Amino acid sequence: MSRTTRTAADTMGADRAEIEIRGLHKSFGDNHVLRGIDLDVARGEVVCVIGPSGSGKSTLLRCVNLLEEPSGGRVFVGGTELTDPDVDIDAARRRIGMVFQQFNLFPHVSVTANLTLPQRRVLGRDKAEAAAVARENLERVGLAAKADAYPAQLSGGQQQRVAIARALSMGPEVMLFDEPTSALDPELVGEVLSVMRVLAGEGMTMMVVTHEMSFAREVADRVVFMDGGVIVEQGPAEQVVTRPTQERTRDFLNRVLDPAAAPAPGPEDGEGPDATQ
Ligand SMILES: Nc1ncnc2c1ncn2[C@@H]1O[C@H](COP(=O)(O)OP(=O)(O)OP(=O)(O)O)[C@@H](O)[C@H]1O
Ligand SMILES: [Mg+2]
Repeated sequence: MSRTTRTAADTMGADRAEIEIRGLHKSFGDNHVLRGIDLDVARGEVVCVIGPSGSGKSTLLRCVNLLEEPSGGRVFVGGTELTDPDVDIDAARRRIGMVFQQFNLFPHVSVTANLTLPQRRVLGRDKAEAAAVARENLERVGLAAKADAYPAQLSGGQQQRVAIARALSMGPEVMLFDEPTSALDPELVGEVLSVMRVLAGEGMTMMVVTHEMSFAREVADRVVFMDGGVIVEQGPAEQVVTRPTQERTRDFLNRVLDPAAAPAPGPEDGEGPDATQ
């Protein structure tokens, strides 16, 4: 793979990071969810974000495209500050595609219409152009044959691939994925990850919240471990997943990689190994 991981120092000059997150905070009422996140994602880099439930992973992604308004800090995408009050937020958001756990397709229209309607409404493309872009992106995710189907006629894996094609049809510079395979039956996970792997290979800048550790190891340039609204540890994917330096990362990975081996919740200093019965 020709993609390289660049360091923060490399991105300070003309070649800025595609995504720059600076001192990001987010509170929901008294709940201080993001507690100062600093993160750069270089152009063409794939960053996987992992961490326990409630650690703020979705909130972080949602702050990157301002689906949630940050309580503090700054977010830049492609050099444009999204947190600038004067920014044209709709224009800035068009650079960012997002794929959710629940596919969020329009159920009442065809696959093709799912891809053409946003292009026509948001980008003002005419019918023929939108249809051509839709066709191209359905081919990209291996679903050209399903152009006229309705979402309910597709498997979950196919629906998620349509959701990816829909996001790609808007021509994003950055793709955010929030647990894109968590709602899928295990046998359907692979087809979605394959599409994401191809996208990564094509040089798409990606932030991916996932529990798929083998995908993270293989495809991510960098893995970021979050807990309690902060980045606890980050580094090359292989290193973070196989040789984490922080105790909290190790605990999390033990639970994710081998749930059966996780200690039962309860007081520390248990009685010993007989507790696993
Ligand atoms: N719109 C919201 N309003 C109020 N609280 C919210 C909102 N969204 C998230 N939270 C809270 O923020 C915290 C972090 O939530 P978030 O969804 O970012 O976690 P997560 O790491 O994505 O978890 P999971 O792995 O379960 O998806 C949680 O305590 C959650 O209840
Ligand atoms: Mg989440």
